[in-house]
Amino acid sequence: MLTGRSLPQTNSSNHQNYLFHLDNLSVEFGATKALKNIQLTIYPGEILFLTGPSGAGKTSLLSVLGGHLEPTSGKAILPQERNSKHFVSTVFQDLRLLQKKTCEDNMWMAYDSSIYDSKNDFYREMEDLCRLLHVHDHMNRKIEDSNGGLRQKVAMIRALLSRPTALLADEPTSSLDKENSYRLFEVLNHFNHKKGLTLIWATHNKELIKQFPGKIAHLDAGRLVYSGHACFI
Ligand SMILES: Nc1ncnc2c1ncn2[C@@H]1O[C@H](COP(=O)(O)OP(=O)(O)OP(=O)(O)O)[C@@H](O)[C@H]1O
Ligand SMILES: [Mg+2]
Repeated sequence: MLTGRSLPQTNSSNHQNYLFHLDNLSVEFGATKALKNIQLTIYPGEILFLTGPSGAGKTSLLSVLGGHLEPTSGKAILPQERNSKHFVSTVFQDLRLLQKKTCEDNMWMAYDSSIYDSKNDFYREMEDLCRLLHVHDHMNRKIEDSNGGLRQKVAMIRALLSRPTALLADEPTSSLDKENSYRLFEVLNHFNHKKGLTLIWATHNKELIKQFPGKIAHLDAGRLVYSGHACFI
């Protein structure tokens, strides 16, 4: 499937090979300190779950990593700013789909002639993903007529079709039942294993975290209070 954009090699032993590096980074919204002195390095091919209670700063951190939010102080070194071969795709909590368009039309938004050999190639990849995630029977359904779970799957497929180096997702399984959440994560796990896709995923879903290998960055009131393996959470 994923062939066009070349992905970096996984090698976490070399400090310089990081993908994202946040150095003493803080974000303030007026008097609200959303992120406080965050120190975080993410390497190619990692799976990182962002956890923490509501208001802890998960969405703010994803926004910084996606390049959508400037730090108030400190430094964010982002792959997409260092090298144009890196593409970071974000699945926002509100999904940002075109309501009046069909599921298929929304997925076509990811088509880029510079990374696909042909529209046929793109279509084949879209079909594969739709079949894997059970979206193929709903291609012609408008987003406004689709349930929350289908919308989340379409947004995720669209993000994967852009062949990102890193995929950032904000609560992407909140409208999916257990079976569909696992199915989605199996697909992402496959992209991670086979293609080196880096996954950064904000979630409250502890079951999912236990089920799949990955690291955790746990936020509390804007502070990164734990960063490491999921087995300690
Ligand atoms: N655009 C904004 N303007 C003002 N305050 C904001 C803004 N975005 C976030 N905040 C505040 O920053 C803090 C962190 O919010 P954030 O949305 O990052 O948390 P979160 O961990 O994603 O929460 P949730 O689990 O509810 O999605 C909160 O106090 C929130 O109210
Ligand atoms: Mg949030």
